[in-house]
Amino acid sequence: MDKLLIEGGSRLTGEIAISGAKNAALPILCAALLCAGPVVFTNVPQLKDVTTLLALLEQMGVKVEREGDTVTLDASGLTEPVAPYEMVKTMRASVLVLGPLAARCGQASVSLPGGCAIGARPVDQHIKGLQAMGAKVDVEHGYIRASASRLKGARLVTDMVTVTGTENLMMAACLADGETVIENAACEPEVVDLANCLIAMGAKISGAGSDVIRIKGVSRLHGARHRIMPDRIETGTYLCAVAVTGGSVRLTSTQASSLDAVIGKLIEAGCSVRCEPNSIHLSAPGKLAAVSLRTAPHPAFPTDMQAQFMALDCVADGAATIRETIFENRFMHAVELQRLGADIHIDGNTAMVRGVERLQGATVMATDLRASASLVIAGLVAEGETMIERIYHLDRGYEHLDEKLSALGARVRRLKS
Ligand code: UD1
Repeated sequence: MDKLLIEGGSRLTGEIAISGAKNAALPILCAALLCAGPVVFTNVPQLKDVTTLLALLEQMGVKVEREGDTVTLDASGLTEPVAPYEMVKTMRASVLVLGPLAARCGQASVSLPGGCAIGARPVDQHIKGLQAMGAKVDVEHGYIRASASRLKGARLVTDMVTVTGTENLMMAACLADGETVIENAACEPEVVDLANCLIAMGAKISGAGSDVIRIKGVSRLHGARHRIMPDRIETGTYLCAVAVTGGSVRLTSTQASSLDAVIGKLIEAGCSVRCEPNSIHLSAPGKLAAVSLRTAPHPAFPTDMQAQFMALDCVADGAATIRETIFENRFMHAVELQRLGADIHIDGNTAMVRGVERLQGATVMATDLRASASLVIAGLVAEGETMIERIYHLDRGYEHLDEKLSALGARVRRLKS
């Protein structure tokens, strides 16, 4: 397995372009299952998770063409509405095929994702929603098996805000008979991007981006073109990375409006941030101030940026409290950061971080994507060398991470195994 060797201490400066959003690309590629015509997607990031999903779609009979950041999918020959365990276990987002398959094929067999490093992450809301739309859903032998001659529009109220749950049900409702209303819907920008893609394919959706989404079912969708939105978590990660080094950066091909809570915290930490329509310029002081935060569904502070801000707080001036309210086990990076010399105390879902004068390089390893990103950020300011093992997590979610960091002046080397 590849490793990443970082020599800390460089001040990051320069300009890089942000890639298409992983968490928008995954549901949007699944939307192609809903129609028989070719759908063309641009700005698709080259990431391990995208490759995994395309392999899954191909296995179902979808024609896949990929050239650079353009992916064309044609699901007219869809034959196998099945997502096997081998695929789903490597990427939970594979469960996003459930809604489209149930709606278009009247049947789906999708492996239960099971738990993962950051928590139990059940999919009961996805299942409950499909049942309310008239599907017969059984969980047997580790598989969710759904069948329905045609789904029926329904009023769906989810027990909690769920991003992929909202996306799965919104996709299913596009081909249902009658109107579906999703209440307590996720307001994440990726949900809006998916809705825009579905609308381009002929769906009748209103309210995406608010907590009530209305979908009027249509009998079929058609081919379309859609550009995937910029990755707000990749954007936030580079902003943090540059900020901890006291650097200055211009990030292009991004969208500041999807990052209000994150940019607010960087300003609170002492950075100056200038936003233009498609770019963000950040310049950081020599020493940041510690910032407290609490994760919550959009537009509040995203759980996917919690680990990166913990790394920032580790070297900031003062103490901060970080409260994680979305996932029950999302502090595994804390023990690795402690190995670099960080002062962190965990009490339930709260981490108390006291900034230290300096971190010291060491060998570290993370168990999930954003935790790995926090270790990269810590490695960039740590004294000496930090070796990050298991970087396949980073390859799942950050396109060309080592090249982009090097372009900003970081001393980063990928060691091939
Ligand atoms: C998505 C994102 C992930 C992000 C998360 C929260 C994708 C591919 N992934 O994950 O990067 O960290 O949103 O912003 O977009 N829950 C249930 N039952 C359900 C569904 C969810 O109990 O049926 C719980 C989860 O365990 C979690 C909370 O609800 O505690 C929110 O999870 P959810 O929004 O569904 O996360 P994902 O969509 O899996």
